[in-house]
Amino acid sequence: MSDLPREIPLSVPVVGHNERVYVDECLETGWLSTGGEFITRFEDAMCELTGARHAVACQSGTAALHVALRIAGVTSGDEVIVPSLTFIATVNPIAYLGAHPVFVGCDEYMNIEPDSVREFLESECDRAGDDVFDRNTGRRVAAILPVHVFGNPCDIESLHVIAEEWGIPLVEDAAESLGATWTAGGFAGRHAGTVGVAGCLSFNGNKIITTGGGGMILTDDEEFANHARHLTTQAKSDPIRFVHDEVGYNYRMTNVQAAIGVAQLESLPARIESKRRNHALYAGLLEDVPGIEILGIPAGTAPNYWFYSALVDADIYGLDREGLMTGLASKGIQTRPVWYPNHMQRPYRDERAYSVQRVTWFWERVLNLPCTHTLESEDIEYVCNVIRDLGGR
Ligand SMILES: Cc1ncc(COP(=O)(O)O)c(C=O)c1O
Repeated sequence: MSDLPREIPLSVPVVGHNERVYVDECLETGWLSTGGEFITRFEDAMCELTGARHAVACQSGTAALHVALRIAGVTSGDEVIVPSLTFIATVNPIAYLGAHPVFVGCDEYMNIEPDSVREFLESECDRAGDDVFDRNTGRRVAAILPVHVFGNPCDIESLHVIAEEWGIPLVEDAAESLGATWTAGGFAGRHAGTVGVAGCLSFNGNKIITTGGGGMILTDDEEFANHARHLTTQAKSDPIRFVHDEVGYNYRMTNVQAAIGVAQLESLPARIESKRRNHALYAGLLEDVPGIEILGIPAGTAPNYWFYSALVDADIYGLDREGLMTGLASKGIQTRPVWYPNHMQRPYRDERAYSVQRVTWFWERVLNLPCTHTLESEDIEYVCNVIRDLGGR
């Protein structure tokens, strides 16, 4: 038993009554695996929520990205434009396909910066027929893979223009942004993950809703969706006689996972609302702490407020991000820095990186604060008081 006054984890799953009811239904009916009504119910509910025409439930967000990139046409020897500042699971599926990431920079909300995508294409690439080639490597640029970091929708309008201009498919990593929308511009009313040829969600344990582990491909393209369903179920052309027409994967979500997902989805609006309130509470309480700032939200968006990022200015605050993380941990408060930039990660440090200065700036300063939607205002006050006390030394 800890003798700390409080223990506040970064982000934990919260399970309600219906999760148990629906999982029991799976156990009683014997539909445990990759068949069963909850998978279709979860997919249908996701289409209804996001407005996507089709949804394909997968084992994980990583699996969803792997399949979506493959169907979008990424193949061995290609390049994919991807932000350096993201979880490595955005990048790994590019490597699974034998392709290479080209890392680009981020904007002031840590999202992929359209200008650096454009600059890379204009200054480093040539068109040849319908294709675009990186002049330096001779590789085809096969996709642009933006991420809606921590639930903030990225500048999709600019990216969409670039993607159309260059004829390169856009695949969205919407792993962290379920329920986030744009509220202004050409995509007002649209959900993150529904603008590109496909968008990929994650239901990993720390996400805004969870299925334990799981993911989903959203797309408006029926053929894309059918192909995704085929590839995620071992590409069977004759399921009885075990005839397969492609190299497929065992990537389909199970009915038990989907049962949890259906129940979790019921509380999504309430989760987002409470996360929005808590974001405002953190920002208000920390407003007068010198050297600490809660990252705001991009104009023209309604994020899902999944994660709260504090920017630590060590010179003003008196402690750097690592010092603050250690200080908070000693008071029972779990926090995490933003990801180590992918262009510096061992598997990817020889790949191309373009305009990534702001990525390292964020990497040195960002600390993510506890954000489970069930946090009480006293919990947030406690975290903010500890942050205030640790500063100014
Ligand atoms: C930005 C991002 N991309 C991809 C993933 C991969 O999702 P999963 O863990 O479900 O494979 C995650 C989450 O884990 C993520 O945060």
